[in-house]
Amino acid sequence: MSKLRVSIVLLFALLITLFFFSPQIQPQSYFLFSNPDPDAEDLALFHRATRTTPHLFTLKNPKPKIAFLFLTNTNFTFAPLWEIFFTGNNHLFNIYIHADPVSSVLSPGGVFHQNHFIPSKTTQRASPTLIAAARRLLATALLDDPHNQYFALVSQHCIPLFSFRFVYNSLFEYRVESLNKYKIQHPSFIEFDSKHPNLYQRYNARGKDVMMPEVSFKDFRKGSQFFILNRKHAKVVLRDQKLWKKFRIPCIDTYSCYPEEHYFPTLLSMEERDGCTGFTLTRVNWTGCTDGHPHLYTREEVSPELVRQLRKSNSSYPYLFARKFSPETLAPLMDIAYDVIFRD
Ligand SMILES: *[C@@H]1O[C@H](CO)[C@@H](O)[C@H](O)[C@H]1NC(C)=O
Ligand SMILES: *[C@@H]1O[C@H](CO)[C@@H](O)[C@H](O)[C@H]1NC(C)=O
Ligand SMILES: *[C@@H]1O[C@H](CO)[C@@H](O)[C@H](O)[C@H]1NC(C)=O
Repeated sequence: MSKLRVSIVLLFALLITLFFFSPQIQPQSYFLFSNPDPDAEDLALFHRATRTTPHLFTLKNPKPKIAFLFLTNTNFTFAPLWEIFFTGNNHLFNIYIHADPVSSVLSPGGVFHQNHFIPSKTTQRASPTLIAAARRLLATALLDDPHNQYFALVSQHCIPLFSFRFVYNSLFEYRVESLNKYKIQHPSFIEFDSKHPNLYQRYNARGKDVMMPEVSFKDFRKGSQFFILNRKHAKVVLRDQKLWKKFRIPCIDTYSCYPEEHYFPTLLSMEERDGCTGFTLTRVNWTGCTDGHPHLYTREEVSPELVRQLRKSNSSYPYLFARKFSPETLAPLMDIAYDVIFRD
């Protein structure tokens, strides 16, 4: 009996305590349990990034930097090649790595310090997770260093086709002479393709006209996932919520689902057409590929001639990077690194 009485007293005490303290407890528990938006964290990060120092190109000291944004879900096979690329240019670049936390990616050391790994979330093909990862990289780089003026997205399968100096000068200096070609001095390099044979299926991958009214078919673009954006355009991407709301919708037609190849080109061609060149600087070979994976270069194919071929483009800029290379190509690429790839 006395046990029961004690229990009742304790219960009352608990209720009274809850009654008095609930106002303080509630807001926090509301935040913890009633906030299912997986974007909340990203939104706060992106918001902070859009308020950083603006686009200020000066070629004087301190010199502008290129932020290299590595998107990966496997180890860095080509780290030794990138190591040569970056060496000696420490004050002109920063590296940021978004590594899928599910696949334990190792830091290769050297220029790829552990502290270049940014807080990351899992990424999957045919889902908007690759868009989110690229935006996280852009935001982190914007916040980290006001001298980051160009943001180059690459993957672990990409290789450089020129020396760092050549890449840097192409982006920051050469263009001054062809100013009249583009309406702004330092354009973004992002591909705008409106003639892709499967564009209509891809537009309707989430269901017919689901993209309306925000994105009409005539505004829908395809482009390489790999781009180089200037600081202004990086912020345009982070400010966007309207298109993201559409592109984050899961696809019904998973064969036509490549959100990361459409979100950035569509957004920037709608909002900043004149500030972008409309082409990418990362070469890829789609010849004879039908399964959504581009040609994967093998050991036998690597030669000085291949590097020269891959650099050639139809634009006034050569290609600066290329993909995709199988891990076995590292050794033959290292063999021609000094004499071919990094000799300008
Ligand atoms: C990276 O390499 C380490 C050590 O060789 C291995 O344990 C890990 O599974 C690798 N991760 C991936 C994603 O391949
Ligand atoms: C592109 O890939 C095809 C095979 O799919 C190959 O025959 C061709 O040589 C490659 N082109 C270049 C420029 O590497
Ligand atoms: C250049 O354009 C031609 C004709 O459109 C095309 O066949 C070729 O693949 C293009 N080359 C490159 C390197 O993009």
